[in-house]
Amino acid sequence: MNLLEVRNISVDYGGIHALRNVSVTIPEKGVVAIIGANGAGKSTLLKTIAGLVAQNDGSIHLGHEDISRLRTHERIDRGVVLCPEGRRLFSELTVYENIRMGAYRMRDKQEFRERLDFLYGIFPRVAERRNQVASSLSGGEQQMVAIARSLINKPRVLMLDEPTLGLAPKLIIEVGNLVQTINKEGVTVLLVEQNAKLALKISDYGFVIETGSIALQGDSADLLKSEEVSSIYLGGGKGEH
Ligand SMILES: Nc1ncnc2c1ncn2[C@@H]1O[C@H](COP(=O)(O)OP(=O)(O)OP(=O)(O)O)[C@@H](O)[C@H]1O
Ligand SMILES: [Mg+2]
Repeated sequence: MNLLEVRNISVDYGGIHALRNVSVTIPEKGVVAIIGANGAGKSTLLKTIAGLVAQNDGSIHLGHEDISRLRTHERIDRGVVLCPEGRRLFSELTVYENIRMGAYRMRDKQEFRERLDFLYGIFPRVAERRNQVASSLSGGEQQMVAIARSLINKPRVLMLDEPTLGLAPKLIIEVGNLVQTINKEGVTVLLVEQNAKLALKISDYGFVIETGSIALQGDSADLLKSEEVSSIYLGGGKGEH
């Protein structure tokens, strides 16, 4: 069964067509990767699902519900959560305060505490640094905090926009492992990455976006082997780690 279905959406920014007729399905408890070059429309797709950007055409469905017209916070309440590109932490706030900010919709203090303890268990490094200000953390640690902040809301589907960007190879592997841990906890994951190799290794299914359209899709294992994908996205440069 599909948890999330994006049906034929198009997005324009003024005169720029950022997405054209894009359809993506994400099965319940799956990990789906979206890969593509700079400016292809990957972040636009995630922002549209999150309700931060309006589509001109098409619709977005969570289970049986059409969520296309819902506001962002209403989508968050239903479990559709975006961890944005570039982490976006409040640099002067502590790790704890940043995560607390992520839970601004959560009324129940007890529930927050329990969820926080659970996340500190998954992210021991975040737990150790809970009272440090975010700006004092390394890039990898900041990424962990951003993911923890998204997870505090118990998302049904977590959208991660380039979680490995700018990280050292060792940390890239750690983030990859973390995505798999999160998925094992029952969270469906939609992962946008320029690191195509990593994304396809840890996902079940993948979509390739080229200039606003889906150019290719398939089982991640097949995409990893495909000559078309490997010549463009796996053949060195930014995609190689
Ligand atoms: N707010 C905006 N206003 C106008 N154009 C925009 C806006 N946001 C994105 N675009 C344009 O839409 C296209 C898709 O951008 P998007 O950020 O979705 O790409 P991306 O695949 O995430 O790229 P990257 O890998 O660099 O993050 C680009 O041509 C970009 O310049
Ligand atoms: Mg982007």
